[in-house]
Amino acid sequence: MSQTLIAPSVLAADFANLQRDVEMINRSEADWFHIDIMDGVFVPNISFGMPVLRDIVKHATKTIDVHLMIVDPDRYIKTFASLGANVLTVHYEACTHLHRTLQAIKAEGMQAGVALNPHTPVALLEDVIKDIDLVCLMSVNPGFGGQSFIENTYDKVKALKHLISEKGASTKIEIDGGVTNKNARELKDVGADVLVAGSYVFKSENPTETIKGLKEITS
Ligand code: DX5
Ligand code: ZN
Repeated sequence: MSQTLIAPSVLAADFANLQRDVEMINRSEADWFHIDIMDGVFVPNISFGMPVLRDIVKHATKTIDVHLMIVDPDRYIKTFASLGANVLTVHYEACTHLHRTLQAIKAEGMQAGVALNPHTPVALLEDVIKDIDLVCLMSVNPGFGGQSFIENTYDKVKALKHLISEKGASTKIEIDGGVTNKNARELKDVGADVLVAGSYVFKSENPTETIKGLKEITS
């Protein structure tokens, strides 16, 4: 079985010490940077935008995984490509022409991701799963860090894993929200490939050790 990737969410970092926190992730055993972009319309919160991402990318040495929680994400695909995003994830609920959006992301040389809100069934991806590089299952309602993990996520991972193998796709499964040492192993065991962790990492006493712990639990 392939190793589980750990993606600390920069949303929970100290924005007044962003370079320090980015360098901590660089030096740690983390695999990806998870970057949450919120517009205050698709979700009831505004995080940060392009100028902040540009400065993160200047210092980051690992894969940049951008999670767009914005309406009409097609408007910004080229912008995020030019800023250095490696994975660009849009929300299923925010895309009228999802197939077209996925092709546009790939045409810019990025991996194409689709995020599903907790209420959105995995089966809705049946006809596009082969076009998706990564499905991000939201295990909290998007908009804020620090919320509790929704237990139904395990069943969604299993359903998605089944859909991926049934269709012969090679899509990765990412889990986003409320990930801790309490659920990481079970998430891996049911089929998760990438675990996003925000508060659990950054609010801990020693974030580097916390990341190491997540890698160990899932190895
Ligand atoms: C929530 C974001 C998450 C968030 C996760 O809307 O998409 O990436 O940062 O934070 P935690 O791990 O604190 O739930
Ligand atoms: Zn996210």
